[in-house]
Amino acid sequence: MQELIQKYNTPLFIYDCNIIKERIKYLKSIFKKMDICYAIKANSFVIKEIINDIERVEVCSYGEYQICDKLKIDSSKLVLSGVNKNKLEFDNIFKSQKKIGRYTIESYEQFKLLNELSNTYQNNIDILIRITSGNQFGIDESKLDKIFEEKNSYLNIIGIEYFSGTQKHSLKRIEKECLYLQELFLKIENNYHITLSELEYGPGLPIYYFKEEFDEVNFLKEVNDILNKYFSDKKIILEIGRSLVASCGYYCTKVIDLKENKKEKYAILDGGINHLVYYGQTMAMKIPDYEIINNKEKNKEIVNLCGSLCTTNDILVKQLEVPKLKIDDVFIFKNVGAYSITEGIALFLSRDMPKVVLISDKKILVRDTINSYKINCPNYEGEVKL
Ligand SMILES: Cc1ncc(COP(=O)(O)O)c(C=O)c1O
Repeated sequence: MQELIQKYNTPLFIYDCNIIKERIKYLKSIFKKMDICYAIKANSFVIKEIINDIERVEVCSYGEYQICDKLKIDSSKLVLSGVNKNKLEFDNIFKSQKKIGRYTIESYEQFKLLNELSNTYQNNIDILIRITSGNQFGIDESKLDKIFEEKNSYLNIIGIEYFSGTQKHSLKRIEKECLYLQELFLKIENNYHITLSELEYGPGLPIYYFKEEFDEVNFLKEVNDILNKYFSDKKIILEIGRSLVASCGYYCTKVIDLKENKKEKYAILDGGINHLVYYGQTMAMKIPDYEIINNKEKNKEIVNLCGSLCTTNDILVKQLEVPKLKIDDVFIFKNVGAYSITEGIALFLSRDMPKVVLISDKKILVRDTINSYKINCPNYEGEVKL
């Protein structure tokens, strides 16, 4: 890692795909009978490295679809989901004649679109109905009558997709959802005289970023037992992002300034909250897993770790006890494989976006620095003449 930092400088993301492969093996050793669907929104950079280890990829936008297409990901592994299904984009997908694994339906409008496209292209498609958990996602049960009444024979409704949130650590809540879904399966099967074969369920498996006590093995075993209890006759697919990839990611950022203002010590790092998102971090009070490389200092000091944005929010950790820092010390923040790169406010202040290096059997620079000023800079050549 030190060599990579020396070669590519900071800020830098490093994703160790061997860690994800181990993680997949571990999850599969617990969820023995289930398939894994990776929610690519968590981190699109690692998908090609792990595609042979998982059964599906959940794609929620045309951009995510284009990433998979460019990387030649087997389209029969794709689950095309998302709250905004654009007619032109989906027309392109149908036109390409690619066999798509599953489409989800999240609204009556989406149903009409897929009904129309499958009919136009005479293309049989497999559908999961995404049932809402009480927000803008998914469809309300009350719309099912219309769907089953109006659907053409190209639409093959084979199961339910359900996701109600991330970082869920309540077994009670998971059990309640399973009970609801079990009843829903029965209702649909009885009302519409069909057999549904699969449940794609996002349990929102949690990652504990701040060294809290958590017996993960037991938790996962309990989730496995609950799912098997309620859906013994269904194929279960776990739709997960965070729990799969969080542990593979390292974010390397360097101290570029040190100061003491009104008796508070500050270290300014070359990367901050624009690149680093720890779910559950509140007011920078919690301490994520990190390392400082090559700092042999015995004396300690209390420092606020801040990023390079001009906002008082850009604090990574407040009041952290560290060995006395010097300029160029490098912090490596761990467990940043999920959502940091995709959720960070990377365009704020027009700071460059970090390089990304993948570690697998080789080491590959999969993204060079991107100058975000180019995205934020107005282009005056686009005068509109109406
Ligand atoms: C529909 C859907 N499925 C799966 C996921 C992945 O959730 P997690 O990263 O908590 O596993 C998300 C995350 O937002 C989602 O929206």
